[in-house]
Amino acid sequence: MASLHGILVALITPFTEDKTKIDEARLESHINHLIAAGTHGLVPGGSTGEFTTLCVKFAAGRVPVVAGTGSTSTAEAVELAVHAAQTGAAVVVVIPPFYDPVNLEQLTELFSEIHGASKLPIITGASGYLGGDILHALRGAHPEHALGVLVRDEAKAGTIATAYPEKSVEAIARGLSCRDRASPGFRDERAFDLRYSRGQICDLDGADVVRDIIHANASKRVVANFILNLTGPRTALVFSPIIYGRGRGAVKQRSVQIPELARVAIETGKTVQVGKGESTWSNVHITDVSDIFVKLVEKGVQSETGSLWNKDGLYFAGNTRLSFGQISQQVAKAAQSLGLVESDSVKQVDPEVANKLTSHRAVLWETNAQQNSQRARELLGWQLRGKVLEEEIPATVRDEAGRLGK
Ligand SMILES: NC(=O)c1ccc[n+]([C@@H]2O[C@H](COP(=O)([O-])OP(=O)(O)OC[C@H]3O[C@@H](n4cnc5c(N)ncnc54)[C@H](OP(=O)(O)O)[C@@H]3O)[C@@H](O)[C@H]2O)c1
Repeated sequence: MASLHGILVALITPFTEDKTKIDEARLESHINHLIAAGTHGLVPGGSTGEFTTLCVKFAAGRVPVVAGTGSTSTAEAVELAVHAAQTGAAVVVVIPPFYDPVNLEQLTELFSEIHGASKLPIITGASGYLGGDILHALRGAHPEHALGVLVRDEAKAGTIATAYPEKSVEAIARGLSCRDRASPGFRDERAFDLRYSRGQICDLDGADVVRDIIHANASKRVVANFILNLTGPRTALVFSPIIYGRGRGAVKQRSVQIPELARVAIETGKTVQVGKGESTWSNVHITDVSDIFVKLVEKGVQSETGSLWNKDGLYFAGNTRLSFGQISQQVAKAAQSLGLVESDSVKQVDPEVANKLTSHRAVLWETNAQQNSQRARELLGWQLRGKVLEEEIPATVRDEAGRLGK
């Protein structure tokens, strides 16, 4: 929440000579004059609001803009509040409906709806490994924020609601009937295309390359393209490489690549690698990925601008790198020391065999995806705290054995 203090000026609204349009030039110079004189915040149009967008644009992040978005109609109040939030207003002022007085209960309902539509951070995917961990991290870092969790399954909504009994986490089961839709609007996003790029891309000085890859693969990178092309709300895209470590989410704690290698080793008695095992992905501990999201939420809530968002908001989450051959060796060693396999040797298999061993297909173990993650470090003050992959592998193998009842 932006800090509001000092003098907040309810602005006059200058109109053109013929009184048909807002006089943008005069408005801008009025705002510049007020800010130069030390005004701490702007309240365009007082409590009923008129032109939040222009005012936010001219204030340009120098002072918070308080948008009046009250209306006698709930739908209009919600629409105005959403618009204000999307254009970058720091706060909305909602005057209770006039002419038709409401009681306290109705007023609470109205405010809840407006808050829900405009400001409530909504987390999707919280029934998954990554989204679940992000929810956990956000709750821990900011218990003061209300959070909405959108899931598509009543049972999972129940599990999340039980894990977070406090009122500030609201699990909403919506879109339940969409599961079988023939053509979903969006797909899961991952660092897919980056796998095929040669060498290592940096998300700070190589951001153009990342954008080009996303645009060139528009049919596959549906969500990334959609988000990259949005100009209204502040957006950010986080690209994660191999994520490891046990998630802290309420529903799912298991990742994919390393647990799958461990599962194959435990079930077949042999640890595998695809080909020579030279393919290499960057990797990152789950808690460190979630930390990027916490930091982005913090910056968003503080209405921070700069090159954090939209077309600049491309963040790599990769930390260190390890080849799949090295990873398989460590899985084999851990499995042997736990008595799950006889030998710590690693068997080379070709992609066809690997495809049969895991439903995720060999592509997870035989491609390259190397990231140089600088943006989050430089712009968000991101610091890595999670255990490195080598330290975490024995725990992952142990977890997998437990899951398989071994
Ligand atoms: N795990 C990794 O190592 C890793 C690494 C890099 C990138 N990623 C990417 O990060 C994202 C999350 O990964 P994850 O490991 O957390 O996956 P996950 O455990 O499978 O979780 C996926 C989440 O998305 C929800 N979901 C899936 N399809 C949906 C749809 N059509 N509509 C609404 N919700 C839907 C799932 O809901 P239900 O519970 O209802 O199914 C679940 O909450 C994915 O895009 C993945 O590719 C993951």
